[in-house]
Amino acid sequence: MPAISRSAPGKLILCGEHAVVYGQPAIALPVMQICTKTRVNAKPLSPRGGVHIVVPQMNINQDLSSLPETSPIRRGLRLILDHFHHDHLPACEIRISSNIPIGSGLGSSASSSISMIRSVSEFLGHTPDNEEVNRLAFEMEKIHHGNPSGIDNTVITFAKPICFIREQPIEFLEIPRGFDLIIADTGIRASTAEAVARVKEQYSQSPSKFKDLFEKIGNLTAQIKELMLSGAIPDMGPLLTQNHHYLKQMGVSCPKLDALVSAALKSGAHGAKLSGGGLGGNMMALVDHSSIQTVEEHLVKAGAVSIIRSSVLPTSEAFK
Ligand code: PMV
Repeated sequence: MPAISRSAPGKLILCGEHAVVYGQPAIALPVMQICTKTRVNAKPLSPRGGVHIVVPQMNINQDLSSLPETSPIRRGLRLILDHFHHDHLPACEIRISSNIPIGSGLGSSASSSISMIRSVSEFLGHTPDNEEVNRLAFEMEKIHHGNPSGIDNTVITFAKPICFIREQPIEFLEIPRGFDLIIADTGIRASTAEAVARVKEQYSQSPSKFKDLFEKIGNLTAQIKELMLSGAIPDMGPLLTQNHHYLKQMGVSCPKLDALVSAALKSGAHGAKLSGGGLGGNMMALVDHSSIQTVEEHLVKAGAVSIIRSSVLPTSEAFK
C-alpha cells in the first residue's frame, strides 16, 4: 500500500479573536505558505498495534503506546478510530511534519489535527467530507484548548476566508479585491488555552467592561467585513489597529507585540494588530504592495524573528 499524505494550511485571524469565544463574529483567512503534512505509511510486517509516531517539530519519535494517555496525538487518534468504529490502527508509521511554529497563533494545532484526520481516515478506508473533518477537528481542538470557538478548525478545513460566529452556519467571504498582509513573529511562544483562560478569569471579575469590549470588537468586525466585501481595503486599517487596542485592554497583548504594531504603523502600514490568542505569537500588518519591503525592514529592526508575506487573492483568482 503506498503511503498516504494529506496536508492542511495555517491560518490567520484578521479580526475578532477572543470576542469570538463569546459569540461575536471573527474573520479568518487560510495561509497557504505554511502547512502541516501527515504521512501514514503501512508497516504490514510489524506486530499488531505497532504504530510508530514521528513528529520532528516536537522531538517525538516513538511508539504510540509509549506516549502518555493524555497526549493530544494519542487522544486524537482514538477519536478518529471511535468515529469510524475501528478498534485499533493497523501497524503503520505516522509522520507529522509542519513549518507552522507551535504556539504562535497560526493554527498549528488545528492544521496538524486536520492533516491527521484526512490521512488516517483514508488509511482506514474512509473519505470524510469537509463537514465531518471539521466536526472531528473541533473535538480535537477541545483537547488542545479546552473551550475553542471552532474558528481555527473551520478556516483550515475549508481553506477559504470566513466570517465565523459560534454555532452558526459558516459564512464564506467573496473577496472582490486582493490585499497584502505581513505576518511577523515575536518569537515568544504562548498558549492559546492560557490566553483564553485569562480572558475568562478577567471577564468574571469585570463583566461589564469585558462585555463592552466584546461588543465593540464584534462591531469592528462587522465593519471590516463590509469594507472587505466592497474592496475598500485601506479603510480596514484603522479598524484593525483599533481591534489591537481593545485586545490590549483585554490583557492579551505584550510589550513585543505592541512594539511590532507600532513599528508597522510608523513605517506605513494601513493598520496592525496581534493575531490569534496573543501573549506572544504573531502580529499582522495590512500594507500596500509598494510598502511591503519598508514595513518588513522596520518589523525586523523592532525585533520580529521571522516574517511571512501573505497575499490574500480575490475570490475569482483564488478558487479558479
Ligand atoms: O489558536 P490561536 O492562538 O490563533 O487563537 C484562536 C483564537 C481565539 O479566539 C483566541 C480562541 C478561539 O478558540 O477562538
